[in-house]
Amino acid sequence: MPYKNKTHNEIIAIDGPAGSGKSTVAKGVAKRFGFLYVDTGAIYRALTLAAIKEKINLRDRKALAKLAARADIQLNMRGDSLRVALDGKDVSRAIREQSLTEKVCCVAAIKEVRDELVKMQRKLAKKAKGAVLEGRDIGTVVFPEAKYKFYLDAWPDERTRRRFKELRQMGQKVKVEGIAEDIEKRDKSDMTREVAPLARARDAVYIDTTELSVEDVVEKISSLIGNSRCSI
Ligand code: DC
Repeated sequence: MPYKNKTHNEIIAIDGPAGSGKSTVAKGVAKRFGFLYVDTGAIYRALTLAAIKEKINLRDRKALAKLAARADIQLNMRGDSLRVALDGKDVSRAIREQSLTEKVCCVAAIKEVRDELVKMQRKLAKKAKGAVLEGRDIGTVVFPEAKYKFYLDAWPDERTRRRFKELRQMGQKVKVEGIAEDIEKRDKSDMTREVAPLARARDAVYIDTTELSVEDVVEKISSLIGNSRCSI
């Protein structure tokens, strides 16, 4: 399902592995430019939750694709916080539970599901004057024509530390070892799956965020975008 419409609005694509800092950074960049922020991982998470609620077998490709086509998933910002709604109910916390996180990769590996969710992401982004999308395949599949592409990365220990902090702040009782294992497993699954694996687009700017603060990365991305806008 190639992306055909090249005359789209301004799209900023941010990809990277879990814990690379892309969510916080993408939110900051969206705020800076007054663009829509689209956390595509939250969409895969919400769909997985919907499948569990409807007792759909997570290996049933057809049923999951049908669900993806009709699922009512809404993303809205409340201040600086992203609220995710499924069938009108707030599921922002539920989609971050560790037990759910472990199941998302099964659903995200199904081509028919991705085709539907990619459609949804393009539609969402095109409605806005500009959008910052973050995920695993934004620069490679969802918006390969995007003018601005970034790939964020960080050393595994730092990614584990960030994830641990984030989950603790959400009130989850997690252990560092469990998180390190989860990140390693998810990286492997995201990078080796057949459909839209996590990969750096050839034209994406690579940023190692290990020793950078969120503000540093937002600044770096904003200035790269600002400079390229000025030179047009
Ligand atoms: O970014 P995250 O950890 O919330 O993503 C949750 C899962 O969804 C993760 O296993 C990878 C998958 N995902 C994906 O396959 N493609 C995307 N564009 C975004 C997330």
